Formats: sequence, structure tokens, C-alpha cells
Amino acid sequence: MPVIAVPHPLVRHKVGLLREADISTKKFRELTGELARLLAYEATADFPLGKVTIDCWSGPVEVDQIAGRKVTVVPILRAGLGMLDGVLDMIPNAKVSVVGLARDHETLQPVNYFEKFVGHLDERTALIIDPMLATAGSMIATIDLLKRRGCQDIRALVLVAAPEGVAALEKAHPEVRCWTASIDSHLNEHGYIIPGLGDAGDKIFGTK
Ligand code: PRP
Ligand code: URA
Repeated sequence: MPVIAVPHPLVRHKVGLLREADISTKKFRELTGELARLLAYEATADFPLGKVTIDCWSGPVEVDQIAGRKVTVVPILRAGLGMLDGVLDMIPNAKVSVVGLARDHETLQPVNYFEKFVGHLDERTALIIDPMLATAGSMIATIDLLKRRGCQDIRALVLVAAPEGVAALEKAHPEVRCWTASIDSHLNEHGYIIPGLGDAGDKIFGTK
């Protein structure tokens, strides 16, 4: 199942708090960070482990150490930046690649205005972060960019997804897994998720 709605009670509780119409910028940012940490925890559950021997206070001891590919986190500007610190709290050595996409309000198509990727993407797991998966146009375009640069392990974390976006993502990139705090009801005629969060970028940056 490429789009996974995380059933954990903390996730369900916190995404509910995010939906308050008059939520403050501070609270929205805090909850976004907390959910990003929880989603990162879920999305890394199958990372392979190796063994290393370290000097412990009681002498040499064999401990577990993450042994697979290194990670690049990929925030989609702007709103994805709101999840970045939370993910880096969990994976502090990750490198960051940035993609700037804005949805055209008429066509709902993503317009690319910035990209800066770390090197050797073929050797890295990419964790794309964006609070909203609406039509999935922005997510699909970002995955296309990563694949063109050789990335072979691509995962995504979103706070809220629309069923229309889930279907589009599963069709375009069936092997990419996406963890979400919620799959909502539908998209409205303006491409907004219902019930959704409203404009996540505006809420994180305090614009509008
Ligand atoms: C929002 C959101 C996603 C995109 C989702 O960004 O953060 O990137 O829309 O919509 P889609 O699934 O239909 O592509 P927006 O373009 O509003 O830009 P912003 O983050 O700068 O506010
Ligand atoms: N972008 C948002 O910020 N919210 C939506 O509901 C859809 C796209």
C-alpha cells in the first residue's frame, strides 16, 4: 500500500488539533514539527541495522547502528520547510535537498522555481516532506526530479492527503511509499483538501 495512513493515536490526536480554524501560527508550527517527527519514525522503521563494537563504561560492547543508505530530506518549498526541523531532530546527519514548487491557482499545475540537490542521489534514501498532498502534482513532479538524478529509494511524508492525490501518486509512482497523518474526504473545486487544513504554507509562514 504506497500511501499509508498512520493509525498511531498521537498522530490522530495531533492532526485533529491542527484543524482548528483559529489556530495560531505558533501552535500550527509546533504541531507540524511534532507530526513530522512521528511520521519520520514510521517511515524509517525498516532501515537496516549493522553491528559495531564501542567502548562502553563496562568494556567493549556490540551495539546496533543504522547501516543502509544515507538520507537526504527533500522539503518542497514553502510549506515543506515547516516539517524540516522535526525530521532533522530524528535524522540529524541527513543532508537536505530543496525543491521550490508553487501551484498555479488556475490550472493547479506545479510551477518549478528552484531546485538544489545534494550529490550522489543514487546512494541516498530521499524523504520528501510537504504537509499537503492535494492533486499530488507537486509530489509527482518532485519524485520525477529525484528519479531523473538516479535516486532509487524515495519515500514521502505528508500531514494530510486527498483521495484524489493518493490515487494519482499510486498511479504515477506505485513503488513510492508515502506516510500521512490523515486521508481526508475530497478536493473542493479550488483544489483544496476537505476538511483539510486550509493553506498550510500561509499557516506556517503567517502570510495572508
Ligand atoms: C501547497 C502544498 C503542496 C501543494 C499541494 O503548496 O504545500 O506543495 O500545494 O498541492 P498539489 O498536491 O495539488 O500539488 P503551494 O503550491 O500552495 O505553495 P506554498 O507551499 O509556497 O504555499
Ligand atoms: N495546498 C494547501 O496548502 N492546502 C490544500 O488544501 C491544498 C493545497
